[in-house]
Amino acid sequence: MRKNSRLEKPVNATITAVGMYTPDKILDNKYFESILDTSDEWITSRTGIKERRILENGGTSVMATKAMEDLIKTYNVNPEEIDAIIVATITPDMFFPSTSCLVQDNIGAKNAWAFDMAAACSGFLFALQTGASLIESGAYKKVAVIGADKMSSIVDYTDRNTCLLFGDGAAAVLLEGTEDLEYGLIDTKLYSDGAGRKSLYMKAGGSATPPTHETIDQRLHYVYQDGKAVFKVAVKGMADVAVEVMERNGLTSEDVAYLVPHQANLRIIDATAKRMGLTDDKVCKNIQKYGNTTAATIPLCIVEYFKEGKIKKGDNLILAAFGGGFTWGGAYIKWSLD
Ligand code: COA
Repeated sequence: MRKNSRLEKPVNATITAVGMYTPDKILDNKYFESILDTSDEWITSRTGIKERRILENGGTSVMATKAMEDLIKTYNVNPEEIDAIIVATITPDMFFPSTSCLVQDNIGAKNAWAFDMAAACSGFLFALQTGASLIESGAYKKVAVIGADKMSSIVDYTDRNTCLLFGDGAAAVLLEGTEDLEYGLIDTKLYSDGAGRKSLYMKAGGSATPPTHETIDQRLHYVYQDGKAVFKVAVKGMADVAVEVMERNGLTSEDVAYLVPHQANLRIIDATAKRMGLTDDKVCKNIQKYGNTTAATIPLCIVEYFKEGKIKKGDNLILAAFGGGFTWGGAYIKWSLD
């Protein structure tokens, strides 16, 4: 047995506290009509987005910290009892140190080790699986998993193909072990396919193409997306994995309380729900308010729906995401928080 394992009975990782933060500044579709050749009608009908939030000062760690502060205050969590912090993000404050280290310091989690995880829009699912493994191993008792992105820092506000799709936000969950194996994170199925890298990426700024005057002039430090190509694979990838997770856990559409989908495009969300046989009232959506907040979308949806009293103890949730990499995946959670 591993030296730092304290496990006597098997446990599932389950969410025992939640928190969220979205910045106050709103960019609505009218704003984009004023700066680009676009319309509220086009944006709404093609994406479902009406507004997005923008962080004016500071980096992603500001929002991740505020989401954790909300969690700590609401659930009276002692930050010194947190063993590990994972921040899923593709917009870290800086290359290093990690954003999670900044959060660790900001909230006074002086006994936690902290690291970032980059899996774009699937980041929260990848981090959730990683955090759950730390709990299930018995080595750690309390792991914070945060999805946070300041997409406004990497989108080109002169490119109508991308800029209006994204927004900023953060949400956090605390994972702990439960010996009641009916509850918590029951299953995940995660995928990566790097062959998709040319359809959705940032062309410069990393170690392969460090920043130069030319790369800046050519606006290569922004999100590039071949929207049509990504749409095709996203719609299939997200629906396939959501159905796969349902089937391998013997769940019918009746059994599912909510689909919690990544919020990139309302048409992708609706297609996924249709493949799962779910009615619209069983689909968590916040794309109209926040756009695509990348790693934050799924936890923001969960936390908002829970805070509004819609997600209840015992509910079966299916999470599904698709994003840059490509990365995609699904998860099955039986909700245990009252
Ligand atoms: N306003 C008005 N017209 C626009 C526009 C805008 N903001 N952006 C594009 N158009 C135009 C295009 O130029 C094109 O015109 P054309 O037919 O004359 O060439 C037309 O609208 C259709 O463009 P297209 O790219 O085919 O639109 P779309 O229906 O595919 O929608 C996205 C574009 C980006 C919304 C959609 O492709 C999408 O959501 N892709 C997947 C996103 C995703 O899941 N990403 C993964 C996670 S980040």
